[in-house]
Amino acid sequence: MSEAVLEVTDLRKQYGETVALNGVSLTVQRGEVFGLLGPNGAGKTTLLSIAAGLTRADSGSVKLFGEPFTRDTRSLRHLVGIGTQDLSIYPDLTARENLRFFGKLYGMGGKALESRVDEMLGAVGLTDRANDRTGTFSGGMKRRLNLAVAVVHAPKLLILDEPTTGVDPQSRNHIFERVKALNAAGLTVIYTSHYMEEVQALCKRIAVIDNGALRACDTLPNLLKRLDTTVRVTVSGASADFSQRLQAIPGVKRAVRAEPNPLTPSLRRKGEQNHRRF
Ligand SMILES: Nc1ncnc2c1ncn2[C@@H]1O[C@H](COP(=O)(O)OP(=O)(O)OP(=O)(O)O)[C@@H](O)[C@H]1O
Ligand SMILES: [Mg+2]
Repeated sequence: MSEAVLEVTDLRKQYGETVALNGVSLTVQRGEVFGLLGPNGAGKTTLLSIAAGLTRADSGSVKLFGEPFTRDTRSLRHLVGIGTQDLSIYPDLTARENLRFFGKLYGMGGKALESRVDEMLGAVGLTDRANDRTGTFSGGMKRRLNLAVAVVHAPKLLILDEPTTGVDPQSRNHIFERVKALNAAGLTVIYTSHYMEEVQALCKRIAVIDNGALRACDTLPNLLKRLDTTVRVTVSGASADFSQRLQAIPGVKRAVRAEPNPLTPSLRRKGEQNHRRF
């Protein structure tokens, strides 16, 4: 039977006049990689900060493994790890020192901590840079270490807020593989991104948030069914029955012919534009 790892109910948060969350409810089940998708300013980081106990909600509730959880709940804190959107690592510390520091925050120490630190450095491919100041690291290396510090204390729920920001495809793949391996080892993951293809690659269920509200929360196939896609195609010398032939393609709901607009040459040059809306 599925078990709720995180259950947020009617979360509201306002910063001055800005409504960051306007009554969001969702549940994350044990063992899943749950995607959170939404544009800039949608409220994703606010939601996750509250879920991780870093920020206080104005109202609403958070349950972690069935227990009420707020910023003041110390006892459940070790169950959650967060890879923050703004990097958490300290640039003046080495990679090893960063990992030790975060481990100690969660009460780890001694040989157990040292061997965990070594394990984490290996897992994110930073063993050979362990003793370098992280201020000297590339963006991708910093992101990988940011992921390692989030899991050094072996949490049960991992929250990743845009973990691939500013990384090259190689580091991105590395992060993807780590997330998959951690999930296969039993960790529940919440993965936040702007990119449909990232959540598509990793997540079975996806929540779409916009303007502080949950717009949809479903499996990918069900979300795709709701997707309303408009494709604008520019062709030269199209035959008179071109739109009828397009309409005959399976999955095309409607094809209409629009006269070219002389004021939008850039659109014609691009040839094709996609608009995806939920
Ligand atoms: N500490 C803060 N003080 C004031 N306003 C804030 C603060 N944190 C967030 N906001 C505002 O709340 C709204 C939601 O912000 P949030 O960071 O949660 O969005 P987001 O979905 O994570 O965006 P992004 O994709 O850019 O990271 C925005 O309008 C933002 O300006
Ligand atoms: Mg954010």
